Amino acid sequence: MTRARRRVLVTGGAGFIGSHIADAYLAAGDEVWIMDDLSSGRRENVPEAAHLVEMDIRSAEDVRNLFREARFDLVNHHAAQIDVRVSVTDPAKDAAINVHGLLNLTEAAIEVGTRRFVFVSSGGVVYGEPELIPTPESAPKGPLSPYGVTKLTGEHYLNYYRHVRGLDYVALRYANVYGPRQDPLGEAGVVSIFCTRLLDGAVLTVFGDGEQTRDYVFVRDVVAANMLVSDLELPDSGDIDDRAFNVGTGVGTSVIGLAQVLESVAAVQPGRKHERERPGELRHSTLNTGKLRAHGWAPAYSLEQGLQETYTFIRDQRAGGPA
Ligand SMILES: NC(=O)c1ccc[n+]([C@@H]2O[C@H](COP(=O)([O-])OP(=O)(O)OC[C@H]3O[C@@H](n4cnc5c(N)ncnc54)[C@H](O)[C@@H]3O)[C@@H](O)[C@H]2O)c1
Repeated sequence: MTRARRRVLVTGGAGFIGSHIADAYLAAGDEVWIMDDLSSGRRENVPEAAHLVEMDIRSAEDVRNLFREARFDLVNHHAAQIDVRVSVTDPAKDAAINVHGLLNLTEAAIEVGTRRFVFVSSGGVVYGEPELIPTPESAPKGPLSPYGVTKLTGEHYLNYYRHVRGLDYVALRYANVYGPRQDPLGEAGVVSIFCTRLLDGAVLTVFGDGEQTRDYVFVRDVVAANMLVSDLELPDSGDIDDRAFNVGTGVGTSVIGLAQVLESVAAVQPGRKHERERPGELRHSTLNTGKLRAHGWAPAYSLEQGLQETYTFIRDQRAGGPA
């Protein structure tokens, strides 16, 4: 049976992850609109077949007007202030985009009867320094940055909207996402920084002892998770963890381990130097993804495959080749 064509809004669809999500909805036959203020996103990331609306999610009026015009069936919300350091120096800006912006979208979605709202949270920040690794959705929450607070707050708002106002939603708690089109600012920025250094034949800088671990998940696996939850039937939910899914590999990789794989992908070894550990950095973060796996999702890319694709993309882009 073929599924009806949906009208999908991807916010942040000119950015790294959102642009891959937009590609996938188009490939699935959906009509795709992208809302992005191009603050960090790029016009060249936007697929040709998508409608790009240059808009700031902080403008309630602009958001409402667009929803009244387009009446989206599905909203996939990737636009955000993503830089933890900016959230520390300017928490009001972080909240304006990540909380007020979200509320503009949820209010508009309720008004036009949007059927599902996919919200992107972060498994790297909502749990704080977790006691249990890999960390399941039900673990205690304790964000250690304003960015983490706004992501967790977003989930609480959506849970309220679901229970009281009838807006159906799913929250995806991403691990450290890497892949083509990423920039050095995201939660897996180290991948793009190391790739660039290796292409320059420059020494890799490792903060602290390099034994801190992260869960690196390839962007195409993240896309598959988004496609799955966009129309996954879910039971009535209780608290925020019922509607949340971790998206990661369940495998922790140290900074040194990451450097080793990338050095082998790049076939160069310019050396490494250690600098003082950065204050406030988590020691370990790896997500338990059993809940999403129970619905049939599993990462398809090994770290080696994903890093190979990412390195090749960055190399070609620098050479002015295919982007
Ligand atoms: N990259 C990761 O490892 C990671 C991990 C956890 C969660 N996330 C979340 O995934 C989402 C996408 O992140 P990304 O890494 O692709 O970052 P990105 O910066 O490439 O994408 C964010 C997009 O949002 C747009 N945007 C920012 N502020 C806006 C505003 N006020 N109005 C409209 N558009 C705005 C930007 O222009 C950009 O295109 C974010 O919600 C981020 O918090 C990312």
